[in-house]
Amino acid sequence: MIVVDRIVSTQSFTCRTKKTRIRILSDLSFSYFQNIGRIVVYSRTQHNTNNIKMKFSLTTLAVATLFTGANAFSSFTPSSQMQSKNGSKLNMSLEKYADELKDTANKMVRPGFGLLACDESTGTVGARLESIGLENIEENRQKWRQLLFTTPDLGDYISGAILYEETLYQDSTEGTPFVDMLNKAGIIPGIKVDSGLKALTGGLPNETWCSGLDGLYEKCCAHYEQGARFAKWRTAVRIQDGGPSDLAVKEAAWGLARYARICQEAGLVPIVEPEILIDGDHDIDTTAKIQEHVVTTTYKYLQENGVLLEGSLLKPSMTVAGVDCPNKPSPAEVAKMTVQTLQRAIPPAMPGVTFLSGGISEEDSSIYLNEINKIDRLGPWALTFSFSRAMQSSCLKIWNGKEENVKAAQDQLLARARANGAASKGEYEAGSEPSMEESLYVANYVY
Ligand code: 13P
Repeated sequence: MIVVDRIVSTQSFTCRTKKTRIRILSDLSFSYFQNIGRIVVYSRTQHNTNNIKMKFSLTTLAVATLFTGANAFSSFTPSSQMQSKNGSKLNMSLEKYADELKDTANKMVRPGFGLLACDESTGTVGARLESIGLENIEENRQKWRQLLFTTPDLGDYISGAILYEETLYQDSTEGTPFVDMLNKAGIIPGIKVDSGLKALTGGLPNETWCSGLDGLYEKCCAHYEQGARFAKWRTAVRIQDGGPSDLAVKEAAWGLARYARICQEAGLVPIVEPEILIDGDHDIDTTAKIQEHVVTTTYKYLQENGVLLEGSLLKPSMTVAGVDCPNKPSPAEVAKMTVQTLQRAIPPAMPGVTFLSGGISEEDSSIYLNEINKIDRLGPWALTFSFSRAMQSSCLKIWNGKEENVKAAQDQLLARARANGAASKGEYEAGSEPSMEESLYVANYVY
């Protein structure tokens, strides 16, 4: 048992024993230790001796490491622990938010509802604004997002909106916080928390990993405080000759699992997004095989990290062929393969799947989702949408940056929301709502 006496850095603190002071490096965030005087019972299984700077005698080490298993973190960490196969103990500190996480996740995927993804980074939304002749400045990003959020009746089909950090902390032009505006419309605010894709050293060409774990817990706490109730983290896996590499799959899945666990500690429902990029000429069977492996690996690590599956959601791509594949599968084939992949890879405890659109056209995204929902499936999960490109593209085009087009643009957004809401129940009639037929594919898309 040791008493924290000085915080040294975000992940280390010192404590005094009778004879000496020891410094402890921890893989837990400093916020667990931020109270000087906090008593910590040290566990060998959680912190091996490599993590302890040994400025102390062996006796001290024994004292510091042999006390295991007690509820050391009392008020701020778990009261329950999970015993793994090899006997190590995993902290399960989710009691504080467990009910709320389950409740939020279930609300987000209730029948007939899906998500509006408008969490494009400043660069990505900028490219879209520039495509209609608007400069990428904060004022224009605010105007665009305001158009989306003030769409009358949007809350009849949209249960949550994924925001970029700027938007979560932004007000409307009239000074109303966007968070309040969304809540008033019955739309739960969410937040993209990953910091983007980086080149995966050691991987195959063009493979990436998703960054953003540093300081994530503290950020999530601040986002919760600001009103966010869920989060998203998008990682991308590329199908190519000999790939994806095992390294890329493991890295993608592990990053998602760490992120998910951290979010839940802070009260945010994690949307777990392992996107299989559509770049390439592979057929649908290849996609299915790789996607099954990626999603299965992700759930293995989610379990290993003690993620509360009931308070989490999955955001996969639909199981489609590569964009350059000569055989474009029919909507019925896409639906069959997508459902097969999900049935094989995701546990029934997880309440909902919110598909990304991934470059598929607006109308095809709705048609595929509709077909998916027409198939009898083994799993109890909801299957709905969390589209960005396939929700916003025609709306943006119609708006064209002009005040006089706002109403027509909002009508269009509502039409896609209505179409996808119906598709999430298998009730969409193809072509019954206006859309843009064109492909929304962008090579090497970044978010
Ligand atoms: P798309 O629907 O454009 O693929 O966007 C996916 C996404 O991650 C948005 O949050």
